[in-house]
Amino acid sequence: MTKGLFISFEGVEGCGKSTQVEHLAAFLRSKGREVVVTKEPGGTPEGEVIRGLLLSPDYGFSHAKTEILLFTADRLEHVSRVVRPALERGAIVICDRYVDSTYAYQHAGRGLPESDVAFLIDMVGLLPDITVVLDLSVEQGLQRAKDRAALDRFEKEAIGFHERVRTGFLHRAKQAPDRMKVCDVAGLNPQAVFDLVRPHIEGLLEGK
Ligand code: TYD
Repeated sequence: MTKGLFISFEGVEGCGKSTQVEHLAAFLRSKGREVVVTKEPGGTPEGEVIRGLLLSPDYGFSHAKTEILLFTADRLEHVSRVVRPALERGAIVICDRYVDSTYAYQHAGRGLPESDVAFLIDMVGLLPDITVVLDLSVEQGLQRAKDRAALDRFEKEAIGFHERVRTGFLHRAKQAPDRMKVCDVAGLNPQAVFDLVRPHIEGLLEGK
């Protein structure tokens, strides 16, 4: 058990995670808490290099196992150098994507065996205290992603891939209902989404 609180945000492309991460960080800081905002892939300088490899449409891999090993390498460094030290000093860590993305993208999306994915997630050895899954349709999410910036290697995948990813998140959330909270964000503005997210976090803050 660490002293801090580990929160992750998950969801399909364009679901609005990054905005909610910022909202929640500001809310918690206004209550005087130390908050570390971080993300995967890319929570360390080395991880930013791995992120470039993984997301650039200029690169690609002949096997999905290469991809999952790169995500895991990024995660091992990120957890040992950023996440664990912050939790040990009692901070609240908010991570934009974490292990449930590996389950949804590399298992449900790419089709890697669940046992391989579970092995690599177990190797890291740290689950969040709470995971918020922002759920909306793949069409809506991808439209938002397109409006925002040039598409990365994952965003360029076929719609069927993104549908499997969404189903993967929902399936995993059903298997871990105490940890993973699904918020239906279709048609909601960021404040309305935050009104759904906040009660889940407030419940955990007591005693922390
Ligand atoms: P993301 O952080 O969502 O970037 P942006 O905010 O620019 O959309 O993108 C990271 C991508 O990496 C996203 O498409 C999901 C993918 N991903 C995996 O496939 N597996 C993983 O384990 C993680 C952490 C991310």
